[in-house]
Order: sequence, then C-alpha cells, then structure tokens
Amino acid sequence: MLSRSVSDLWYKDAIIYCIDVETYMDGNGDGIGDFRGLTVRLNHLAGLGVTCLWLLPFYPSPNRDNGYDIADYYGVDPRYGSLGDFVEFLRQARQRGMKVIVDLVVNHTSDQHPWFQAARADRDSPFRSFYIWEDEPPAHQEPNVFPGKETGTWQYDEHAGQYYYHRFYHFEPDLNMANTAVRDELRKVIGFWMELGISGFRVDAVPFLIESVEGSIVVDPASFLWEMCRFVNVRSGDAILLGEANVPPSQPGQYFDQGNGMQMLFNFIAMNYTFGALVRQAATLLADALNIIPAIHPIGQWTNFLRNHDELDLSRLPQSVQDDHFAACAPDQSMRLYNRGIRRRLAPMLGGDQRRLELAYSLMFTLPGTPVLWYGDEIGMGEDLAQEERLSVRTPMQWTDDPNAGFSSADPEKLVRPVISGGKFGYERVNVIAQQRVPESLMNWVERAIRNHKEHPAFGRGAVQVLGTVDRAVFGHRLDWDSDHMLLVHNLASRPRTATVPVPTAGMRQLFGNRSYALRGRKELTLELDGHGYAWIELRE
Ligand code: GLC
Ligand code: CA
Repeated sequence: MLSRSVSDLWYKDAIIYCIDVETYMDGNGDGIGDFRGLTVRLNHLAGLGVTCLWLLPFYPSPNRDNGYDIADYYGVDPRYGSLGDFVEFLRQARQRGMKVIVDLVVNHTSDQHPWFQAARADRDSPFRSFYIWEDEPPAHQEPNVFPGKETGTWQYDEHAGQYYYHRFYHFEPDLNMANTAVRDELRKVIGFWMELGISGFRVDAVPFLIESVEGSIVVDPASFLWEMCRFVNVRSGDAILLGEANVPPSQPGQYFDQGNGMQMLFNFIAMNYTFGALVRQAATLLADALNIIPAIHPIGQWTNFLRNHDELDLSRLPQSVQDDHFAACAPDQSMRLYNRGIRRRLAPMLGGDQRRLELAYSLMFTLPGTPVLWYGDEIGMGEDLAQEERLSVRTPMQWTDDPNAGFSSADPEKLVRPVISGGKFGYERVNVIAQQRVPESLMNWVERAIRNHKEHPAFGRGAVQVLGTVDRAVFGHRLDWDSDHMLLVHNLASRPRTATVPVPTAGMRQLFGNRSYALRGRKELTLELDGHGYAWIELRE
C-alpha cells in the first residue's frame, strides 16, 4: 500500500512555522487576527524561507482552550473570517510554494458541540454514546492534564444525570473512539479538509487517542489512530500526520507503525535535552539525547522545536537537570504552570542574549529532523505573565513600532489580547520592521539559518554521528546524506573553548556560524570557538 518513495518525502526538507490566526494579523480592524490579515503577511513567511504552515485550531469554538474546544469541525470561526477566506489563504500560500497543515483535535469536542448537547439532553439519543458516561465516577481516576486548574477526569452533568470523562478541561468531553459512528464522523472531517487542499494534520493529544478508559465501554482503543493513518495515506500519497506525543523514549517508535502510521512526531526528547545542555553547559546531554531517541522507520521524521503554544514541559530530563533549568529560567512561581511547565517564551528565558538564542536555534536547526518555529520566535518576542495560563506566550505578533505593534488598527481595548509594550521585549523595540533594517538581527539570522538548512539535504535526511571533541562543553556532530556531508560544532560554555574534532578530509568550507573561523587541520580540525560559538562546516570529498 505504501506508494511513498523516500526521495519524495517533502516533509523531510520542510521548514515548518506555527501560527495562531487569532494573534497573527488583523485584516479588518476589529482587534482579532483573521485569515485576511494572515494572507497579507504570507510574504513575511515566504521571505523567511518557511515551506509549511501549521495552523492552530481556527474552527468555531467558545474559545476557552484557545480553539482546542471545537464546536463545529466543518467551519471557520466567524471571528477569523469565512471558509472562503480560508480557501483564498490556502491558494495564496500555495502560490508561494508553502504547504498548510491544520490541527486535528479528535480526542474531545467542546461541551457546546451539537453532539454533546444532544448527548446530554437525552439518554436515548444516538449521540449519547459519542461520549463516555458513568453513573458513578470510578474509584481510580486518571490524572487530569491540567493539575491545579482541574481536579479530576469525571464531571457530573446535571442535564445528563451522569458523569462524563474528560482528560483535558471539563468543558472538553472526550469522544468515545470505540463507537464506529464517531469514527465515521471523524473520517468525514479529515476527508473534508483534505479535499480543500491542505497537506496534512498536526494530531493533538496522540497518546490519549490510544488509551483505554477503565470501566468504560472502550473496546479497542488503539485502532482509531491506525485507522486514521490508513485513511489519510489512502486518500493522499503526500499528506502527513504530525503527532503530538510527549511520551517516554520506549513509546514514540510505535506511532510510525512500520511506515503505515504517522509520518512525523515532535521530538520532545531532543527539545528537553537541548534546554538541559544549555543550562548545564554540557554537550554530553546532547550526546545522551541522540542515544535515547529511538530509531524510526525511514518514512518517519522527527520534528525539532524549542518552544510552542503550550507550557514548556521538561519531564523527559533527569530531575536534577530539570531543577537547574527551573532555577535558571523560571525562578518566579508565576512563570510556572501545572506543576511541571514553564509559561515563557524562548528569548526571555535565555535572558534576551542573542548569542545564546543563536546557539539554541543552531542546535535545533542541526539536530536530525525538520525544524518548526513558533510565530514570533523569529524576532525573539517575550511573554506576558499577566495573561492566564498558556496565553502568556500567545500575544499579538509584533510587526512594527506603530500602535498595537502593527497587528491591528482597532482601539487597544478591543484587541484579543494586549500587545507586549515597554521594556526589553516590547513592540517598540522588538518588531519585524526594526529587525529588517539590521543585518545582524535575530530575524535575519533565522533567515540565513533556514537558507543553509534548505541547501543541504543532510540536515533533514542525514544519518547522525556524534564526534568526540575532547571538551565536555563542546558538541560536535556530523550529518551525512548521499554526497552531502555536514560537520557541526557548538560550544555550550559561555567562555571560549578549543575544540578538536576528527575530520576525514582537508576539504572543508564554513557555511555559517557566529563568525568566520580559521579551519586548520588534516585528520583533525582544531577550532578556537568563542563562548557560545558555533560553526556549520561542509566537508568536501
Ligand atoms: C494539546 C494542545 C493544547 C490543548 C490540549 C487540549 O496538548 O497542544 O494546547 O490545550 O491539547 O486539546
Ligand atoms: Ca479581524
């Protein structure tokens, strides 16, 4: 059944960029980001070199979980425009060579979804069994995903006279995946967006799709995920499923299912260990990560990221490293969330130090896989801790130093969320236009990193090899794909270090780095690296 040939796998060479339509660009002046605004800003993304956009949920929603609480799977929330605006956006993205993937949230719906409304109103409704009900909550309850915000996973519903199951917020009842009628509906949803021309889905909450709920009617919980993968793979030889599964290293491999499952998974392990390596200034942690990350089917691909729209969860790291990171990067209780995460953006966590930001991104761009950027991180935006929970990292994009950061022409009180103003990360200083003017800005750095990444298939496809560098603060690795050979050297320490790495050839060319380095040596390359310095070197046969 697999019609995919390895050389065709576009997602292996992709540069993904994640957008929250609501906070990206307001096209009609009502204070809320929308598809018209986003369409106008496609040239910014094309200019950066992005090749694939991932849209957070934009479907009709009461919006109590940033749109992950879906009330209608077949539409666009009117606040963001119409389905017509979406299709026009898709066309304009395609015109610029960009693919679009959308969030697929099938674990639960909003409690406002008509299915749930029908289910709670009538025990005999065919929709009752779309959800999971009990007369009494089971003695043993699975933990809720949002500790501190939700107490359990079973909620009593007055209308229904029963308890329903919810892994996430109480207003997000879990769908009953064992019900074939639910599966039929979800297949239609997937088919609908594929017919509109999207290139795949970011699949929300994957581990929860295959869990079995104790004491409930779930029969074969694993199968819908696989059924969904088969369905997408049959409908399109090109579409992808990018799964969100923050699970221990023994588990992610299964989701690729020998090339019949998902195509991509977020690399939570690489992300965690990158933060660990930065805080400990220890390259050894990166070598550990590459040992821990399980081997995957050749069709599969890891997606590397540093931050996203959620809290930063470092639970893949040893506890003592997590503790160090929390102490250094989230010293204040207000920066922490759900007893496990950090609700901050990357730039402020790294003290707004551009060299450290470059180092972090350089690692992300050169670890094997496909990079994904969270909007605003290309200019080093900050967070707003006055916002609830994870909204702190979802403030409006900072385009210019005009009022409202150029995001909207509405009155500031009308904005969906305030723009970050004043201080080191305020829009007056941190914005797209300001960074366009400065050749060394972070944004221009990201653009150059992407250019180099795209010119070398070894980044997305190569086999990785960790190189001994003598110094524990210096991480050296190679990526080899066909005739493309890359040598990468990163100094995690804040002080200069001398790195000595084995090289098979004297033919070397530096492509990128914090500055130009003299490349000396025949069998060994010796580099005098600056503090937090890094170099991308091409090896020539
Ligand atoms: C995923 C999303 C998160 C959302 C949750 C519930 O973890 O990334 O933002 O709240 O699912 O849908
Ligand atoms: Ca608007």
